Amino acid sequence: MGNHFLRLAVVYVLFGVTLGIVMAAGHEYTLAPVHAHLNLLGWASMALFGLWYRSAPSAAETRLAKLHFWAHNIGLPVQMVTLAMFVGGNNSVEPLLALASIVIGIGLVCFAVNLWRFTGSTAR
Ligand code: HEM
Ligand code: HEM
Repeated sequence: MGNHFLRLAVVYVLFGVTLGIVMAAGHEYTLAPVHAHLNLLGWASMALFGLWYRSAPSAAETRLAKLHFWAHNIGLPVQMVTLAMFVGGNNSVEPLLALASIVIGIGLVCFAVNLWRFTGSTAR
């Protein structure tokens, strides 16, 4: 699971940085929140997840880790596309944007529970 997160994280940073350069070159910053979250939820968060799962291989094998991976990686693309549409003026996508964000949040809860279990005083 660690490697899956890391391999997707670098894909997100390539998109995020490309969007940053395009925004800067065009002096057009409407998509700044998309750029910010591609880099922060896509690159920074996923790279941290990946590095942690690599440091705790048995935590990476759990059902919680799988749930976390799929919630994050289904939620995030949907969130980024609907956020781009939303900041572009399409308000009708708001419920889907909200749902995708909640799915990402649920994934993060799985991560938090897993991390607490595997870093508790009885775990190694
Ligand atoms: C070559 C790489 C990058 C370029 C050219 C770039 C460019 C930009 C531009 C033009 C903006 C909009 C600024 C504005 O609205 O005034 C921005 C915002 C932002 N960037 Fe980047 N960026 C790059 C990489 C990154 C990375 C790697 C991260 C995070 C890990 C990041 C995080 C952010 C955040 C959080 C904002 C929003 C700041 C705010 O709205 O206050 N950027 N970036
Ligand atoms: C499901 C998860 C998340 C949701 C729903 C969310 C939502 C939001 C919202 C609604 C804003 C205000 C946007 C605006 O006013 O234009 C925002 C801004 C911001 N968020 Fe998040 N966020 C999430 C995760 C994160 C994470 C994990 C980070 C950092 C690692 C982060 C960093 C930021 C930053 C730096 C800004 C200010 C940049 C900007 O305004 O473009 N967010 N976020």
